[in-house]
Amino acid sequence: MKTDLLIRNARQVVTFDQGQFKTFENVSVACAGSKIIHVGDEKQLGLESATVIDASDFVVLPGLIDSHTHTIFAGSREDEFEMKLRGATYAEIAQKGGGILNTMSATRKTSKEELLQLGKKRLVQALRFGITTIEIKSGYGLSLADEIKILEVIRDLREHTPMDIHATFLGAHSVPPEYKPKRDDYVKLVCDEMIPAVAEKKLAEFCDAFCEANVFTIDETRRIFEAAEQYGLKLKLHADQLTHTGGAELCAEMGAVSADHLEHISDRGIDALKNSKTVAGLLPGCSFFLNMQYPPARKLIEAGIPVALATDFNPGSSMTQHLQLIMSIACTQMKMSPAEVIQGVTLNAAKSLDRTDIGNIQPGCKADLVLFSVPNYKYIPYHFGQNHVEHVIKNGRMVF
Ligand code: NIG
Ligand code: FE
Repeated sequence: MKTDLLIRNARQVVTFDQGQFKTFENVSVACAGSKIIHVGDEKQLGLESATVIDASDFVVLPGLIDSHTHTIFAGSREDEFEMKLRGATYAEIAQKGGGILNTMSATRKTSKEELLQLGKKRLVQALRFGITTIEIKSGYGLSLADEIKILEVIRDLREHTPMDIHATFLGAHSVPPEYKPKRDDYVKLVCDEMIPAVAEKKLAEFCDAFCEANVFTIDETRRIFEAAEQYGLKLKLHADQLTHTGGAELCAEMGAVSADHLEHISDRGIDALKNSKTVAGLLPGCSFFLNMQYPPARKLIEAGIPVALATDFNPGSSMTQHLQLIMSIACTQMKMSPAEVIQGVTLNAAKSLDRTDIGNIQPGCKADLVLFSVPNYKYIPYHFGQNHVEHVIKNGRMVF
C-alpha cells in the first residue's frame, strides 16, 4: 500500500479505543493525504512511503488541542500580577477597572494588523508546544466594532498557520465602562446586535459568557445563550469560576458543548453535567496563577463526566501557552493520572470543540500527531516545565 508519511517503529503510540486509553509499543503510523490510514505493524501491510520518520526514540500522541484560550489581546498585566502577590484579589483588581477592562483598553487601541502580528507569534509558540488545534475567544473589545475586529483577526490568522482555529464570541466577558450605569443595555447590545452580526459574518462557531458574581448573572447568561442559539452558535461558558453561580447547571440544561473552569461547581452542578452532553473544561493554570481553589477533577471523572484541560491563555489569570505544564499541574494539584491528562488535551478536548475527527490516532482521523522525545507517556507531565515536543505533524505534513 502507498502512503505519504510513515512514522516508523514508534517507541509508544497513545490512542483511545472506544474512549479507553490504550498504548501500543513499537508500532508505525501511516498517513495518506491529511488522514491516518493505519496504526500497527507496517510489514503486515507492506507499506511504501514517500516520507519516513524513524520514531524509535519518540512517543507519539494525537496533536494536542488547546480548547480554551484568549490568545488575541494587546498589552500585558505584570503590574497587576505584582499587586496580587501583595494580596489584592482578582475580583478587587477587576472592580477598580483593572483586569479584563485594562486589557480591553489596550486591545481597543491596537490595530487589526498589530493584533494579527501578535496572534501569529503566539500561534507559532503554540505549535511548538505541540498544539495542532486551538480555540480562541474574542472578549477584549466589548463594543460591536472591536469584537468584530478581534474575530476578524482570528479568522485571518487561519491563513498564517497550519493549525485548526475555532472561534468563540465572548462579547459578554465584562460590562464595558461606558455601559456601567446601564448594564441591561449592554446585554441587549450583545443579544440584539453583536450576536446577529457575528453570526451573519460567520465569524464564530461558539458563544461564551463570563457568568460570575459582579459580571453576568445567570439570568443574563440565559438571555445571551438563547440569542446565541437562535443564531446557530453553540454554547460554552465560564462557569462557577470565582464563586458558585449555577453556571454548570445552566450549561447542562441548555446543552452547552462545554462548561469551563468549575472551581466552585456544586454537587448539583456535577449531577447536572453527569446527565448531559456537556464536557467539563478545566483550566488549572488559573488556580495555580491566582493561587485559588482547584476544580474537583476527581469528582467529575468519577461521575463519568468527560474532563478536558486547556491553558486559558490570557494576560490576567493564566499567562501561559504551555499545555504540557498545565498537564503537570493537573496531575499534582488535582490528582489526575498521566493518562487522564493526556485524554484531557486530546480526545476530551476534541469533544469540547464538538469534533470527532481529531484527538485520537486511528484510521480515519486527521493526521495530527506530536512526537515527544520521552521514554514513555507518563514522562511528559512528570518532567514538568519542559517542552518535550520534537516534531509536529498537521494534516499529514511535518510543520515543526
Ligand atoms: O478565563 N474569567 C474570565 N476570563 C478569563 C480572564 C480574563 C482576564 O483576566 O483577562 C479567564 O480566567
Ligand atoms: Fe477563559
